[in-house]
Amino acid sequence: MHPTGGSLRVFGQFVWLEVGTVKTVLSRPAHQPVTLTVGRLNLTARVELIKMKLDLHYVDPRLVELYDRDNPRGVDTDFYLALAADLNAHRIIDLGCGTGLLTCELAIEGRQIIGIDPSAAMLAVARKKPGAERVQWIEGDSSALGKQEADLAIMTGNVAQVFLDDIEWDTTLHALYATLRAEGHLAFESRNPEARAWEKWIRDETFERIDTTFGPMECWMELVGMENSRIRLVEHNVFKSTGEDVVASSELRFRNKAALTDSLINAGFIVEQAYGNWHREPFTETSRVMVFVARRD
Ligand SMILES: C[S@@+](CC[C@H](N)C(=O)[O-])C[C@H]1O[C@@H](n2cnc3c(N)ncnc32)[C@H](O)[C@@H]1O
Repeated sequence: MHPTGGSLRVFGQFVWLEVGTVKTVLSRPAHQPVTLTVGRLNLTARVELIKMKLDLHYVDPRLVELYDRDNPRGVDTDFYLALAADLNAHRIIDLGCGTGLLTCELAIEGRQIIGIDPSAAMLAVARKKPGAERVQWIEGDSSALGKQEADLAIMTGNVAQVFLDDIEWDTTLHALYATLRAEGHLAFESRNPEARAWEKWIRDETFERIDTTFGPMECWMELVGMENSRIRLVEHNVFKSTGEDVVASSELRFRNKAALTDSLINAGFIVEQAYGNWHREPFTETSRVMVFVARRD
């Protein structure tokens, strides 16, 4: 990567640009170089390829099959459906759409819906749902979106918390900004760290015996650690018929309201609402969830 006459050509999935103490992350459409006009600035830049690592929950076909049982339709589904209707959104992007429960419900006559997720296994379940034929499914992350002129982009089921480091998160917000039309909206939720949900992610609180298509199972969660607002946990899934324990590790980032607000503003969004629940009530310190609605400037 060489600065030439005030511009920089970068080939890589993500571009991390440092100018003095200022750090910026830029994303680019797949397989196209980025040209950065830098004038006479003295800068250093480096390119990082961030590998997409998916939790076993989203990869193991048996755990994926159980996803909808553990995460059924709820008030969050109703919230996003109502929001899409209120905003009169026709072109909608569901990033991290998973098994597509909400995606397929959004796909009514007259709308164009894109469901995008890096997990082939989650998308395979989504593609079998009623209404799936009306959705354009994309296997990938936000870098596969490009400019869609969308009215609304959503990230549901706490997808925002899978972006562990700030580069990943900022890159995703920049890509979502770029994919929206002017004045288009972004909505997502994230668990409020003040509510300390992880304190209940222990065996005593989460142990359950369930009957599944794979026979009886025992499942529970264990908190492994917490560092720098990142929570590490494991989920045990014991298939009683064979004794196999499929242990799925995951890590989630708990950003607070101020950090999420700042990251949205830095990506160019205006924060319209930060609700504290799915009934559009205001956020308070003890709210379990933060539901953001932001608008592209
Ligand atoms: C908790 S699930 C949420 C699925 C769905 N939105 C819902 O509400 O049920 C998280 C999803 O995020 C996806 N995911 C993981 N890394 C991602 C990334 N870098 N970009 C987009 N989605 C990602 C996973 O594959 C998984 O389907």
